[in-house]
Amino acid sequence: MLASKLAGILLQVYLTVLPPVLGQLSADELAPLLSGLAERPRDADLEARVPLMTDDPTVAPLVDLQVFAPPVVPEGGSHCAVELSKHSFGVGSYGAPAVVPYIPPAADGCGEIGKWAAISLNLSSYSIGTQYDRLSAIYLSNTEIWRHSSAEPTRTGTIWNTVKDVTHFTPLFAQKGDLMMDFSNIIAPELLLDGVFDVVLTATFYAATASVPTPQTADLIVPLSNLSPTLPNFFTIDNDLGAVTNISLPEDSIEAFVEIFCSGNSAEEFWYLNTPDDFVPYFPASTGVIGKGPFREVQVLVDGKLAGVVWPYPVIYTGGITPSNWRPLASYGAYDAPTYWIDITPFLPTLLDGNASHSVTLRVLGQGKEPTINSNWFVSGSIHVRRGSSRTTGRMTRYEVPDLQSRTLGAATAGNETVWTQVDVSRELSIESELVTSEGTRTVTFTQSLRYTNEARYADEGWVQWVNQSTIGTTSSTHGGVTKLRDAFEYPLAVFSNYSLYTAEFGSYGSDIHQTHTRALQPPLGATYRSIHSVQHAQGQIGMDNWPGLRHAINGTGTTDQLFAYVDERGETYFRDIMAKNDGWVRDKVWGTLRDRNPPVPRNQIFGPEGGPGFRRMIAWDTGS
Ligand SMILES: *[C@@H]1O[C@H](CO)[C@@H](O)[C@H](O)[C@H]1NC(C)=O
Ligand SMILES: *[C@@H]1O[C@H](CO)[C@@H](O)[C@H](O)[C@H]1NC(C)=O
Ligand SMILES: *[C@@H]1O[C@H](CO)[C@@H](O)[C@H](O)[C@H]1NC(C)=O
Ligand SMILES: *[C@@H]1O[C@H](CO)[C@@H](O)[C@H](O)[C@H]1NC(C)=O
Ligand SMILES: *[C@@H]1O[C@H](CO)[C@@H](O)[C@H](O)[C@H]1NC(C)=O
Ligand SMILES: *[C@@H]1O[C@H](CO)[C@@H](O)[C@H](O)[C@H]1NC(C)=O
Ligand SMILES: *[C@@H]1O[C@H](CO)[C@@H](O)[C@H](O)[C@H]1NC(C)=O
Repeated sequence: MLASKLAGILLQVYLTVLPPVLGQLSADELAPLLSGLAERPRDADLEARVPLMTDDPTVAPLVDLQVFAPPVVPEGGSHCAVELSKHSFGVGSYGAPAVVPYIPPAADGCGEIGKWAAISLNLSSYSIGTQYDRLSAIYLSNTEIWRHSSAEPTRTGTIWNTVKDVTHFTPLFAQKGDLMMDFSNIIAPELLLDGVFDVVLTATFYAATASVPTPQTADLIVPLSNLSPTLPNFFTIDNDLGAVTNISLPEDSIEAFVEIFCSGNSAEEFWYLNTPDDFVPYFPASTGVIGKGPFREVQVLVDGKLAGVVWPYPVIYTGGITPSNWRPLASYGAYDAPTYWIDITPFLPTLLDGNASHSVTLRVLGQGKEPTINSNWFVSGSIHVRRGSSRTTGRMTRYEVPDLQSRTLGAATAGNETVWTQVDVSRELSIESELVTSEGTRTVTFTQSLRYTNEARYADEGWVQWVNQSTIGTTSSTHGGVTKLRDAFEYPLAVFSNYSLYTAEFGSYGSDIHQTHTRALQPPLGATYRSIHSVQHAQGQIGMDNWPGLRHAINGTGTTDQLFAYVDERGETYFRDIMAKNDGWVRDKVWGTLRDRNPPVPRNQIFGPEGGPGFRRMIAWDTGS
């Protein structure tokens, strides 16, 4: 085919133009992840079968999950669990978060306030009925601490639990505040949406021990959010101006790191599948191809000057592309979206220049004509500040932030039968300052090196699409020669989707998705070095009814498997080999030192090689006729 021939030629050009990203995961870093996976235990999987069907009300709820590495917490020390929030998100919950007061735990066993070894949150959700995937976010004192999306529930009930390390938010947990949970849900009987989300959020505080002492965390956390007492606190961004927070840091600040939460929503949910504007006219409008290209950059600006960028990992939610792919095994990040760090310490000379207020802007740039993005992105963050004992001074000695390098190519075969596009982007960024602080005089550096390529092929007027995307980068910072932050990542994604029969009566659609998340992260505060390697493959198909206007899924199949490996600096490991098929679990094997902190799904949920019966809905019941 012409397109693939051209692709071969242009790929060579691209590779000669772009140098490799330095500081990527080394062979030594990858080895323990891969060898750990190879050392899977050999005991046989139990293959019990229980009659769990979507429309069968007689069985226990389905356990859904997103694989995660459990937080590393001290063994043997004291700890206490505190229920922070309990709420049912049903009628009227859209844009109406549950807000409850937060008080630091004072009970015996909780450990000294603010001196904990670790804090973990356990988010436990239950839903029965029919519902889309809904986005939720948890904030403490107007600072986002968790971005989560729901499972799509079943009519027999679905539960999902996720545990997350939030130790780096210790300064917020050490003070009174408001805990806000947003889980904007819509109950609409006319749309058959009746799934309410029942949520319990628990925090566990671990006292410091000899082997796990109090880690270094910020002294002060400054939210980058809209600060509303009643509305979801993330910024809703649909233009190129982004969202500004005015801040004022204490003059003795010696380090400042920004943590970012970001997710595309609505016409930006599948931003990586969006089409470059120049090629949108190659498709009939009825195909619903979305423009503004597949590349997105989330930017942090200090007083209007670019300070760092995030090239986000594409989290696929449980209703994403083909919903039957993600039940019961969700895509990585669905229940706990990855966050990203940017070191703005080199900007301290500016931020501490004596002016009362400075601005930090969070914005998202895409590839369209202004605005460069569609509507919309949800973005928020926080600045984690460490303080010294005297005024910090200094000057920026290097600011090398050349423009983003990008280009878009494309071609079509005769009659636009097949269309091909390719987007290549790279960015280099290097910022350095000399700081005079109460801890001494030092050079602080922040560098980023990032590469992106997205190749899309289309057939059948755009109803069939193949996308192969690669996002590779290294973000790092040093303070006085010591590495403070390192984030070396690689996020390959291949999506094949076929919507050829989408508009047919009793039509169908399906997809085949390969997604990998490989990331070595040394966060600047609160935790040690860890590396993660997740490889997921999902394929599935949905059959639809013939309702005018609304398209309901009436049946479906889905098979998803995943290999997951986690290794950290303390020698803790977590490995998982898991597979789900047709609404049921096929296998789940977990090993490594952290196994018991996030064990396999209960054995009576394992269906065996054929998986579950698949998603099936009685049409008569659905239409209410
Ligand atoms: C999280 O909470 C759920 C529901 O209360 C519980 O079943 C589960 O064991 C908890 N997980 C951890 C790791 O505490
Ligand atoms: C930030 O400060 C600028 C300049 O003083 C002001 O115009 C703007 O309204 C402030 N923005 C917010 C969100 O407070
Ligand atoms: C305050 O900001 C203004 C404009 O951004 C700058 O010209 C001035 O030097 C700053 N003031 C101090 C005390 O540094
Ligand atoms: C293919 O699409 C381009 C862009 O809209 C258009 O100019 C051209 O006429 C189309 N070719 C055919 C054969 O439809
Ligand atoms: C796209 O990804 C798939 C699955 O990883 C792979 O088999 C295929 O060769 C890739 N295609 C291109 C053009 O890179
Ligand atoms: C897309 O799906 C249709 C209907 O099942 C099928 O006929 C067609 O071959 C598929 N296209 C591709 C490229 O797989
Ligand atoms: C889904 O239902 C349609 C319409 O009844 C039927 O043609 C199709 O074979 C079904 N597919 C599956 C996977 O059961």
